[in-house]
Amino acid sequence: MCGERDVEGDGSRRVSGTVIGHGIDLVDNSRIARSVERFGDRFLRRIYTPAEIEFCQSHADPVPHLAARWAAKEAVGKAFGTGLGEEISWLDIEVTRDGAGRPGLALHGNGGVLAEARRYGSAQLSLTHTKDYAAASVLLLGKV
Ligand SMILES: CC(C)(COP(=O)(O)OP(=O)(O)OC[C@H]1O[C@@H](n2cnc3c(N)ncnc32)[C@H](O)[C@@H]1OP(=O)(O)O)[C@@H](O)C(=O)NCCC(=O)NCCS
Repeated sequence: MCGERDVEGDGSRRVSGTVIGHGIDLVDNSRIARSVERFGDRFLRRIYTPAEIEFCQSHADPVPHLAARWAAKEAVGKAFGTGLGEEISWLDIEVTRDGAGRPGLALHGNGGVLAEARRYGSAQLSLTHTKDYAAASVLLLGKV
């Protein structure tokens, strides 16, 4: 796993490394809602890690949270310039959370291999969602 954030003793973050990629994505929540209705757990387990599913399902309406994580995964694919496919796929990308609810990025499996090849060090990820839409923006920073 890579992508741990660098947290100073005073709780502030030290961000270093050159930007190696940027990605953004916007999702229509109704599209995610339809997939959940149609395919249920099979859809969830194909796209989201167990921790992501647990977090989203802890909300009265999981859909905006699921949609924001879908957007984050698409944004990471864009930031690497590969899109989602053989080089990095849904479950290789996990949106984590710190104690304040701030999102972070963990890369698994092929994501770790791609990260190593690109000399990826860390990420800055931001999510937003309304009832109808969700969006994510991610900056990939190189190793220092
Ligand atoms: C946290 C906050 C910035 C979210 O903004 P918002 O307009 O309410 O909601 P948005 O849809 O734009 O963003 C929601 C996303 O913000 C992100 N977020 C939550 N806390 C965050 C934080 N401390 N820093 C950065 N991003 C945060 C999450 O990814 C969240 O999505 P998720 O719940 O699916 O993980 C806003 O509620 C706020 O400033 N609250 C007051 C301070 C607060 O509550 N701090 C956290 C408690 S310790």
